[in-house]
Amino acid sequence: MAYEYDKSRVTVVDHPLVQHKLSILRDVSTGTKQFRELVRELALFEGYEATRDLPLEDVEVQTPLEVATCKQIAGKKLAIVPILRAGLGMVDALLELVPSARVGHLGMYRDPETHKPVDYLCKLPADVSERTCLVVDPMLATGGSLADAVATLRSRGVSDIRCLVLVAVPEGISAVLEADPDVHIYTCAVDRQLNEHAYILPGLGDAGDRIFGTK
Ligand code: PRP
Ligand code: URA
Repeated sequence: MAYEYDKSRVTVVDHPLVQHKLSILRDVSTGTKQFRELVRELALFEGYEATRDLPLEDVEVQTPLEVATCKQIAGKKLAIVPILRAGLGMVDALLELVPSARVGHLGMYRDPETHKPVDYLCKLPADVSERTCLVVDPMLATGGSLADAVATLRSRGVSDIRCLVLVAVPEGISAVLEADPDVHIYTCAVDRQLNEHAYILPGLGDAGDRIFGTK
């Protein structure tokens, strides 16, 4: 079945370095330490793309030679919102890019039978409604977890939501955009399909287990 979605809401970050690193990430022989490092590196590339349109303002800077009119980020407030657990692997990279960002946590896991998300934690910045939210999670499979996260942020009044995943499938992208057509999704790859257990093919396996070495 072909899943349709609005391609203008999806950015595939397919820089050659991203593709190279993603291939190592997919490799079953890549160990926990390297896997975690690669997730961090890929999150840096995505964070760079997802913040490309942040507004700038002029600032006067005294260089060693003269005063120059330069640019600085115009006070845009950001929140990084990892979906636990695997999203935690992307947080540090984004904090390196935007050290003043706040971090909110959304804890959920997929029920192994229904594949639907089960929420167990929601801890968001008090002023989250005033912030652009970068929702991070390496895997976008059925889309249930991400759609749940987006709905939670909308219910708290967040207007600008950008979703950063590493691997997605058309079915999941379509489900998220159907639930909320205004989000923007950044991914390093759009894979073929889900298997009967709702795992991404070819994918990279269970991202949480590979990041934290729990299997
Ligand atoms: C994984 C992944 C996403 C979700 C994606 O988390 O990190 O959160 O599944 O699947 P979906 O698009 O079908 O909702 P998991 O539930 O395995 O929890 P974990 O991160 O704690 O391992
Ligand atoms: N969650 C993962 O970690 N991997 C998948 O392929 C699907 C959901």
